[in-house]
Amino acid sequence: MELLKHLAQISGPSGAEDMIRNTIKAEAAGKCDEVITDALGNLILIKKGDAPNKKKIMVAAHMDEIGIIVKHIDKNGFIRFCAVGGVETRHLVGRRISFLNGISGVIGCEEEEFNKKPALDKLFIDVGALSAEKVNAKIKIGDMAVFCGDTVIKEDTVISKALDNRAGCYILLKTLSKLNRKNDIYMTFTVQEEVGVRGAGAAAYSVEPDYAIAVDVTDTGDTPNAPVMDVQMGAGAAVKIMDRSVLCDAYLRNFIIETAKRNNIPYQTEIMADGGTDAGRIHITRGGIKTGGISIPTRYIHSPSEMASISDINACIELLAAVLNEL
Ligand code: CO
Ligand code: ZN
Repeated sequence: MELLKHLAQISGPSGAEDMIRNTIKAEAAGKCDEVITDALGNLILIKKGDAPNKKKIMVAAHMDEIGIIVKHIDKNGFIRFCAVGGVETRHLVGRRISFLNGISGVIGCEEEEFNKKPALDKLFIDVGALSAEKVNAKIKIGDMAVFCGDTVIKEDTVISKALDNRAGCYILLKTLSKLNRKNDIYMTFTVQEEVGVRGAGAAAYSVEPDYAIAVDVTDTGDTPNAPVMDVQMGAGAAVKIMDRSVLCDAYLRNFIIETAKRNNIPYQTEIMADGGTDAGRIHITRGGIKTGGISIPTRYIHSPSEMASISDINACIELLAAVLNEL
């Protein structure tokens, strides 16, 4: 589990995926036949198969995480910012954030907004502001930051700022060494998912696969008063049927379910009413691509403390490997 911790701790907001990409590339060294980084920064690891009827299968997990970007530094050195991806203000006030250059800050809120759900433009970042000059010396417009906080793994539970989607990256890396070389597998670590699935479309266009599977987190319906949803933490890998961005290919979805049954891998079926994944962009690329999804049931998505079950993550690895080896 050290690898999961390591991946989750790295700062990699959308558009600034260099550190996480380099880490994944180093981790995959010697485990695949070809490594491509495209113009947008998508990382594609290729492992070739040799079955006469082999298929080309793309597996996508996004590398980026949500964050914030500096848009203005005021005369006292307080920083105003925009969201990068689905940042919710209720998760921000009082939080610590970490800039890519290592500087830490605290998110404050204008006094009159304190008792309501604050608007993003009423929040500011304080990096120990004493003057604009001192802050300008270390932070500039366009600098990005992400939530900070240690990744904690205790028994079957993992808590981290970026299980979305470093848990997915971890699953792809672990699956890489379980492949039987039947099919051509394109393990694709995409960029800019959190700002609108931008990397996945370009990657799917160039890979041009027969099938694609997106691996990402999904919501759960098992916390107090949660919106009705059948997915539960700890109940196995979630096989995506639908989310707001995709209706999964029926053949592929059923194949994934039958593969889970055949191999006694715990699974559940997923309909996520809100939110989407790379699958949403991939399936409408080129003339259309048969696409499915394997998801990690995750509580508190896009908060600084996303929570998932290690046994679910392991089930996703088993299921993804079996599907890629048997499809
Ligand atoms: Co997300
Ligand atoms: Zn995600």
